[in-house]
Amino acid sequence: MNIAVFVSGSGTNLQAIIDKIDDGYLTNTKIALVISSRDDVYAIERAKTNNIPCSVIKRKNYKTLQEYDKSLLNELSNKSIDLIVLAGFLSFLGPDLINEYKNKIINVHPSLIPSFCGEGMYGIKPHKAALARGVKITGATVHFVNEHYDCGPIILQKAVQIEDTDTPEVLQKRVMKECEHIILPQAIKLFLENKIEIVGNKTFIN
Ligand code: GRF
Repeated sequence: MNIAVFVSGSGTNLQAIIDKIDDGYLTNTKIALVISSRDDVYAIERAKTNNIPCSVIKRKNYKTLQEYDKSLLNELSNKSIDLIVLAGFLSFLGPDLINEYKNKIINVHPSLIPSFCGEGMYGIKPHKAALARGVKITGATVHFVNEHYDCGPIILQKAVQIEDTDTPEVLQKRVMKECEHIILPQAIKLFLENKIEIVGNKTFIN
């Protein structure tokens, strides 16, 4: 199975996938391509270190979402991609790409959706919002991507306790390490083993 990983940042989720392929947890799986929305991020170094082809496709270089989608689709074409994984990817995808890869795009979000998600809620912001609201647990969600921000069928979620002394940065690191980096490879494995059934806006793991 070939996967394409879309990144915009440090690439720790990309690294988690690489590590789970290397340790045999993800079998018959190859990261065929990494696409970054930025050219100054460490995720690109991680791809290079692991001999993974990497392209930079910046949203700001395209006048319209449709042209951006077209560029992404062109980069993905003839690579027999079975699954697109958004791993810290911060650009919005348009209907052309989403329809071409319907129910074959998953995203990891650093909160327990439907809390602290939606447009503009990315990176450190969900953690700041969780601390501001005073919730006692937070975590991460892996979901299918549809045409609305963070609204596709949820595949997996994992929670952690929030400590009274937590700062947004400390909480983000705990959620990444104890949640994101665990459930993203798990969701990929479930998908590649065809164990995820989508019914309406829900999933059932078989
Ligand atoms: C992570 O919190 C991820 O959930 C969010 O972007 C942050 C950076 O991810 N979408 P990564 O280290 O680039 O994988």
